[in-house]
Amino acid sequence: MTDADARARTVLERCDALAQLTEEPGRLTRRFATPALRAAGERVEGWMREAGLQTRRDAVGNLIGRRGDAALLLGSHLDTVRDAGRYDGMLGVLVAIAAAERAPRPVEVVAFADEEGTRYGTAYLGSAALAGRFDPAWLERRDADGVAMADALREFGGDPEAIGSARRDGLLAYVEVHIEQGPVLEDRDVPVGVVEAIAGQTRAQVTFAGAAGHAGTVPMEMRRDALVAAAEWIVAVEARATGGLVATVGEASVAPGASNVVPGRVVLSLDVRHGEDAVRETACAELRERAEAIGAARRVDVVWEEVQATPTVTCSPDLTASLAAAVTAAGHPLVTLISGAGHDAAMMAEVAPVAMLFVRCAGGVSHDPAESVEVQDVAAAIDVLDRFLSTVLYRVPIRDPGQEGRSE
Ligand code: GLV
Ligand code: MN
Ligand code: MN
Repeated sequence: MTDADARARTVLERCDALAQLTEEPGRLTRRFATPALRAAGERVEGWMREAGLQTRRDAVGNLIGRRGDAALLLGSHLDTVRDAGRYDGMLGVLVAIAAAERAPRPVEVVAFADEEGTRYGTAYLGSAALAGRFDPAWLERRDADGVAMADALREFGGDPEAIGSARRDGLLAYVEVHIEQGPVLEDRDVPVGVVEAIAGQTRAQVTFAGAAGHAGTVPMEMRRDALVAAAEWIVAVEARATGGLVATVGEASVAPGASNVVPGRVVLSLDVRHGEDAVRETACAELRERAEAIGAARRVDVVWEEVQATPTVTCSPDLTASLAAAVTAAGHPLVTLISGAGHDAAMMAEVAPVAMLFVRCAGGVSHDPAESVEVQDVAAAIDVLDRFLSTVLYRVPIRDPGQEGRSE
């Protein structure tokens, strides 16, 4: 086994270990500010220390390890969707630690506490805090059990009143490794690819409020069935998603939720993405009008709440060129991609030049327990990151404190 393979195997064994730290027995679910996330953070903190990094947590619960006076940040996230795969987020954190251990210059690794938004509907809570884009109003949001974000964060050891202190200025770069979550690299038969841009996304919560009633006694023409209105709109959402626009209703709650009761209230999530912000914004406006029209025709009230909107982000041309040079130097054909998935790099672009490296994953499957990567591809990603960390120094002026390898 080569040294690169051994490092990659360690990364994959660590992904396996983290997959056991879950909120739900038998499947991986690890949401923001939960005991499972705390447990994962503790394991990762141990590995950071073994790699010579000095660790701390910031006010929003991100875990940060640094060696020296670093201005070069590597990282990804430790939270997951429900019934997740074991590599989305975690692979990037663990590859970053592997590279940081050998990096020729000071480097910092961040394990973000929330990228998916599974618990509160708001994506990027961790990186939004670093980017100075954390909206304090989010702290009032409640999860499905009614727990306010501020209370969950306090319980987790964070400090909702001090989120502003997590902001990071003066970073020279943020670099993220992530599984591709799509089929392009597999199709092109390459282990890694370089990301040029990350598509923008809008998340909304759409409520249809009609009137509950007895399923046996309320005549059909007198009903104000919230679920039928919602269903008509969901089909309209699918029909609107053409020309590269993707739109998803991934969550639905029906109240009161009994087989013999006309549904009185339905709350849906909506996720809309496109590489051009204007296209996404126009589509969202049209989908809102459509929901209101369907509601008016069915005497169902519609409330539209935009939860979050993030623009399309272009990766730094300089850093991306360095990353591409590292891919080529490692002997791989250069494949560039636009990411349809959201990533912490999209938020970090607010305060730093960003670059991203994708790793091939089997069948392009992600957000699913069947997520899978090959050890050789992970070895290739570590190799590329090693090379990047050596050469990037010649492209951007990373500060050298002369205290290499020492914790301050
Ligand atoms: C995160 O995985 C997202 O793209 O929603
Ligand atoms: Mn994800
Ligand atoms: Mn991710």
